[in-house]
Amino acid sequence: MSADEMDRAAMLSVLLALIYSRINTVLKAQSMDDKLWCVCENTHTCEDGTCNGDMCFFTLVHGQKVKGCFDKEQREQCYVPRITGLYAECCNSNYCNFNLTAPGDDKKEPYVPESVIMLVAVPLFVLLVLSITVCGLVLWLRSRRPHQHLQEHEPSMLKMPSGGDPTYGDIFDEFCTSGSGTGLPYLVQRTMARQISLVECVGKGRYGEVWRGTWMGESVAVKIFSSRDEQSWFRETEIYNTVQLRHENILGFIASDMTSKNSSTQLWLVTHFHELGSLYDFLQYSTLDPEGCLRMCLSVASGLVHLHTEILSTQGKPAIAHRDLKSRNILVKRNGQCCIADLGLAVIHSQSNDYLDVGNNPRVGTKRYMAPEVLDESIRVDVFESYKQTDIWALGLVLWEITRRTIVNGIVEEYRLPFFDVVPSDPSFEEMKKVVCVDQYRPCLHNRLHSHPILSTIAKIMKECWFQSPSARLTALRVRKTLAKLDQDQDSSTDKLKLDV
Ligand code: ADE
Repeated sequence: MSADEMDRAAMLSVLLALIYSRINTVLKAQSMDDKLWCVCENTHTCEDGTCNGDMCFFTLVHGQKVKGCFDKEQREQCYVPRITGLYAECCNSNYCNFNLTAPGDDKKEPYVPESVIMLVAVPLFVLLVLSITVCGLVLWLRSRRPHQHLQEHEPSMLKMPSGGDPTYGDIFDEFCTSGSGTGLPYLVQRTMARQISLVECVGKGRYGEVWRGTWMGESVAVKIFSSRDEQSWFRETEIYNTVQLRHENILGFIASDMTSKNSSTQLWLVTHFHELGSLYDFLQYSTLDPEGCLRMCLSVASGLVHLHTEILSTQGKPAIAHRDLKSRNILVKRNGQCCIADLGLAVIHSQSNDYLDVGNNPRVGTKRYMAPEVLDESIRVDVFESYKQTDIWALGLVLWEITRRTIVNGIVEEYRLPFFDVVPSDPSFEEMKKVVCVDQYRPCLHNRLHSHPILSTIAKIMKECWFQSPSARLTALRVRKTLAKLDQDQDSSTDKLKLDV
């Protein structure tokens, strides 16, 4: 089959899927009376503790109990992979999940004769005391040895994600980081991905599509890669599965899956879902106050520091440069922080193991966000530092987009893409090169920014991200430190204000 025919077949299958889902919706509306009522608990779609569906379910995922309704198409989710910490049960009558519990939850105490207690419990107790003594001794001996590696890094680098209600994403995190692995085993990822119900398309582009899906009653994001961009799927899957990337400012990975559908390959990447969408979408309809702006900028810088930093420990990671940082590849979280997405173009570097892996993706970064040395092709492609420096250029542009939407003295600007005033939409490589390298033009900074302590510092950072010479630019760590200091000063001045009042 030619590429054209494959595209046409893919389009036809998408069309058929759309018609099918439309018919389904109509049928569903008609058969509302046939549906069951179920108890719901701990799902964000739950209203008044009841829901309506084709079957009722109870699930237990690593201690988190969820009750709710599944539609027929979600039936598969009643059969979860048999791994510790996962349990699911479905039933088919009104409110039948009211009394459902996990096996062992409601077991009565079995009768145990005294002789058995003497034979089993006493030796067990002795064993326990012995083990505690040995562990104590080992810990004491270890504490006398000098500490290695871990102390070389700031503790925040190794912190687990925090804040907000636990989601299934967080539960997966716990699952995956409790051992030495970097994610769920491949087979589990596959099983999970195939139990996801796609709900609505939330994004579409050259890369493919992003859907909101549900798994066990919780929302997940499913990025479906276009066949042209399979190298990005391979790269992102490889990085998420081999590098310990859990960080509150990096999009949380759940699973990757490759399937064959109508003789074409479907590539899925399942991640945490963020209902506020991309930073680009968010900035179209929202404005910020200076504190909100600082929180966002600091979170993006923190995500970038985590990527750029090599961590030397058993749970460590190589350094990673993103190479396509932009507001469309950053997601906004409910807590006002952001997380960085799309590692399809990333390069990996380990100084300790002396390797640089630039991958083999034919894709290049987004032209609008390209640094001067990329546009004039003077970038040193064999030096990892070069890629970090191009990320910093793009970071400056993202900070600029955020500050435009920040209200200072009652003034705010409309959302615009960087260089909106000097290049057309979808600019060519040559158009960008003329502006950035020949004219050495930089985005304008509005006067209001200079009248506010937070915004004037961010304006200074931006300028230092846009030096023509890559080595003169700030590092992500420097940007983060400056912003973190601003944030602390902010906190202490509000504390002082509270005390004065
Ligand atoms: N758009 C792209 N990725 C997304 C995600 N993970 N959550 C919500 N919207 C998205």
